[in-house]
Amino acid sequence: MSERSTGDTGSKSAPILALVEETIGRELLDAEQILIEELSSSNPYVSDVLQHITRFRGKRLRPILLLLTAQAAGGIRHEHKVLAAVVEMIHLATLVHDDVLDDAETRRHVATVNARWNNETSVLFGDYLFTHSFHLASSLETTYGCRMIGRATNIVCEGELSQIKERGNLDLSEEAYFRIIDGKTAELTALCGQLGAHYAGAELAVVEALERYGRYLGLAFQIADDVLDLLGNERKTGKTLGSDIEKQKLTLPLIRLLNRASEADANAIRQLLLHPEENTREKLAPYFANSDALAYTQQRAQRLAQDARQQLDVLPATRARRILAEIADFAVQRTF
Ligand code: IPE
Ligand code: IPE
Ligand code: MG
Ligand code: MG
Repeated sequence: MSERSTGDTGSKSAPILALVEETIGRELLDAEQILIEELSSSNPYVSDVLQHITRFRGKRLRPILLLLTAQAAGGIRHEHKVLAAVVEMIHLATLVHDDVLDDAETRRHVATVNARWNNETSVLFGDYLFTHSFHLASSLETTYGCRMIGRATNIVCEGELSQIKERGNLDLSEEAYFRIIDGKTAELTALCGQLGAHYAGAELAVVEALERYGRYLGLAFQIADDVLDLLGNERKTGKTLGSDIEKQKLTLPLIRLLNRASEADANAIRQLLLHPEENTREKLAPYFANSDALAYTQQRAQRLAQDARQQLDVLPATRARRILAEIADFAVQRTF
């Protein structure tokens, strides 16, 4: 939700952006400072890559979730700022690696590390970001954060590995899709809620509710991202789109489209997916127009956002809680 990186913040997100800034703007900047300090290197090559990837920031969803859940569950402490930097760094590491898997050229409105340098640099640089995030997490006095971060990151990697394994599987079930996105995306957003609440001294029931909030929100967020990959605008998202089709990664809209199509249409769609081209997205458009797949996908995402909002009932009515509820809406309505 950073104005700097998005180019177009979208009318739906602008009020929420202002609210986030007003409520936790200072703490977000502190977290960013911690991140910058951790990621400094005297090696000129490493320093070049670091400069490149910190030039533009993303929406900062994960630090925002961590700090807001902290605020809503008892108050932000120093640990939260460190943890906010850690989760953003882990996210960044997964993006650098993911752009290799997707052969992506643009991320956050600039060239990806693989496009600007090469795949080898991306692999090693992603590792470098992971090791820095664990180094930073280990600076906390208690080991809880480190343990939870390690566990969650293992699951994120397993999610990405499952997605690679299922690449090209045109019979991927909805259930398998949800397992993949639960790992690769929702695990990290769930961690944000969990750490935010735990380090604010909240009781276990609140920690668990905010972990579930993060999980449902992460699922909804990834479903919306998968729709954007099919229908979004590269100028607005600032990243290469269409790679799910290009890399034959089935997502919810496509799974539904295939499941509901006539046999003849399903066969034609399979042929399109088996031989991805530059204009495959356009060729799929008439099939989507005759299908409930997009409406169904939107409905599933909205339902998850509602499930996320419901988890907030355990919290007292505060501004932080209200913003968390709005972020759940933003997750499914976003255009970037
Ligand atoms: C991109 O995450 C990867 C997904 C989980 C869809 P974001 O959309 O949060 O990326 P940035 O941080 O804003 O660039
Ligand atoms: C999210 O999946 C990747 C991670 C969680 C690492 P995507 O491949 O859909 O993310 P984008 O679209 O490239 O940002
Ligand atoms: Mg990708
Ligand atoms: Mg995507």
